[in-house]
Amino acid sequence: MCRRSTSYAAPAHGLRRCLTIAAMHPESQSHNKRSLSARGPGVERQAPLNWPVTNPLEWRPVTPYDGAMAVPIPALLEDEPTIAALIAARPFLSMHALDGLVLEQVPLTRIAEVLGTPAWVYSAGAMRARLAELTAALAGLAHVHYAVKANDHLAVLHLMAEGGAGADVVSEGELRRARAAGIPANNIVFSGVGKSAREIRLAIAEDIFQLNIESAEELEIVSALAVSLGRTTRVALRINPDVDAGTHAKITTGTAANKFGIPYAEAAAVYARAAALPGVEPVGLALHIGSQILSTAPYRAAFARAAELVRTLRARGLAVHRMDCGGGLGIGYRDEPDASPVALSGAIRAAFGGLDLELMVEPGRWLVGPAGVLLAEVVLVKGGRFVVLDAAMNDLMRPAMYDAWHGVVPLTGGNAVGVSTPVDVVGPICESSDTFARARKMPLPSAGARVALLDAGAYGAVMSSTYNARPLAPIAWVDGDRWAVIRDRQLHADLWAGERLADFMT
Ligand code: LLP
Repeated sequence: MCRRSTSYAAPAHGLRRCLTIAAMHPESQSHNKRSLSARGPGVERQAPLNWPVTNPLEWRPVTPYDGAMAVPIPALLEDEPTIAALIAARPFLSMHALDGLVLEQVPLTRIAEVLGTPAWVYSAGAMRARLAELTAALAGLAHVHYAVKANDHLAVLHLMAEGGAGADVVSEGELRRARAAGIPANNIVFSGVGKSAREIRLAIAEDIFQLNIESAEELEIVSALAVSLGRTTRVALRINPDVDAGTHAKITTGTAANKFGIPYAEAAAVYARAAALPGVEPVGLALHIGSQILSTAPYRAAFARAAELVRTLRARGLAVHRMDCGGGLGIGYRDEPDASPVALSGAIRAAFGGLDLELMVEPGRWLVGPAGVLLAEVVLVKGGRFVVLDAAMNDLMRPAMYDAWHGVVPLTGGNAVGVSTPVDVVGPICESSDTFARARKMPLPSAGARVALLDAGAYGAVMSSTYNARPLAPIAWVDGDRWAVIRDRQLHADLWAGERLADFMT
C-alpha cells in the first residue's frame, strides 16, 4: 500500500481572479486536438459565457474576466503549435495571469517553490478521466490491463486499481509493485521476451491471470518450472503478426525483424505443443505491435491475422478462450490528435466480435502520458540561443533516445508572451544528445524562469537514471485543488549508499 503523504491545498483566491490564456485565444478551439471526452462526455472545450463552471473537470475561472489582467497572446508560428495552443489542447492545464501555469487547480510554480526543480508532477484527475474514457469505449468488450512500465509509481497503480484496471507487467519488480499497490494477482498479465526462471516461478506461485509466452523455448522452460512446482499455469502465446506499426523504429515490435513474439507461421505448432505439455494450459493468444501508434490500420491488420489464427487453431480442435490485443495507443505530443479508444474498440470488435473470446488490452502511454509534466528552471541562456535547464536527459530520456518532441511551456504568463525566437532547449549534461528541443520558437526566457516539459507522464520518471550523479527528481501528485509529495528528491548520499571499496583495496 502507498505511504500517505502530507497534502497541500491550493488557495482558491488567485485562481478565481484569473483568466486563462487558452480561454482568450481565438485559435484555441481549432487547436483543441485532444480527445474531448477526457473532460467528460458532452463538455464544451471553452469556458461557457455563463460562468461559474460546473463541470469538475473543467477548471476555468469562476468569475468573469477582468480586462485589466489580459495577457497578450503570442503570434501563431508557422508549423509549430503556439504555447497557447499547447495549453488549450490539454484540458488539465490552463494559464492564469496571476498564478501562471495551473495543473487541475494547483499552480505549478507553487510546487516548484516547495520541491525545487527538476520535479515531476502528475495529475490524478487526468489519469482518472482517461482511464474512464478508455474503459467506457471498451465497455462490455475488453478488459484493461495497464502497462506498468509506462509509469510504475504506487500512486498511479493504486489509481488504476481503483478504476478497475488490471496490470500488464514485465519484471519481478513490476509484479511486486502491482501487488503492493493492491492489484490482485488474478488481474495481472506477465509479458516479456526474457523472463528469468525466478520471475516465472514467482508468477506461477502468485497464480497470476496469464503468462504471455514469447517463444517456443520459453514455453518449454515455463512447462518445466510449473511441473517442478506441482502447478499448472495459464499461458497465452504472444504471436508476432509481422505487421509494421508505422511508429519509431526503436518502439516497433510486431515485425519479423523484431525480437518479440512467436513467428506467425510457427504459432499454430507451438500452440499445439503447449496443449500437449504438462504444467501449462494454453488459454489464448496475445500480440503487441508497438508503441505510440496513431492509426488503427496496423491494429486492424494485426487483429485480422490473429483472428485467422484463432479459427485455424479451433479447426484443429484446440481451445482458444482469450485474446490479448496489446497496447500502443499513441498520444498527440505536438499537435497531432490522440489515438482514439473508440476506433480501437471498433477494430477489436470487427476482428474478434463474433469469436466468443475474452478480450483484453494493455495500454500504458495513452492513460498516463498527458497527465504528467517535468518542471525545470532555466540555469542560464547562452549566447541568446541555448536555453540551459536544470533538468537533463537523465530525467526525461525520450528526446535523446527517440528524438521525441515535448512541448516546453513557461510557468508564468509573462514568459509565455513576447517575440518568439528559435532556441535550443538543453540540459547541463556533457552530451549533445542532452537536448530537449532544437530550434524551438519561444519567447526567450531569462535565467531563473521555470518551464514545464509536457506529456511526461509516460516513460518519463520510469526511464530516469542518475547519470552524472544527478539524484532522481521528486514527484508531486495533484488531485483537484490538493497536492502532495509522492516521492522525495533522492539524496546525494543515497547515490552511493550501496557502494563500498573492495576489501583488498589499500
Ligand atoms: N504491452 C507490451 C507487451 C509492451 O511491450 C508495451 C510497451 C505495452 C504493452 C504498452 O505500450 P504503450 O500503450 O505504452 O504504447 N519508452 C518508449 C516506449 C516503449 C514501449 C515499450 N512497450 C517511449 O518512451 O516512447
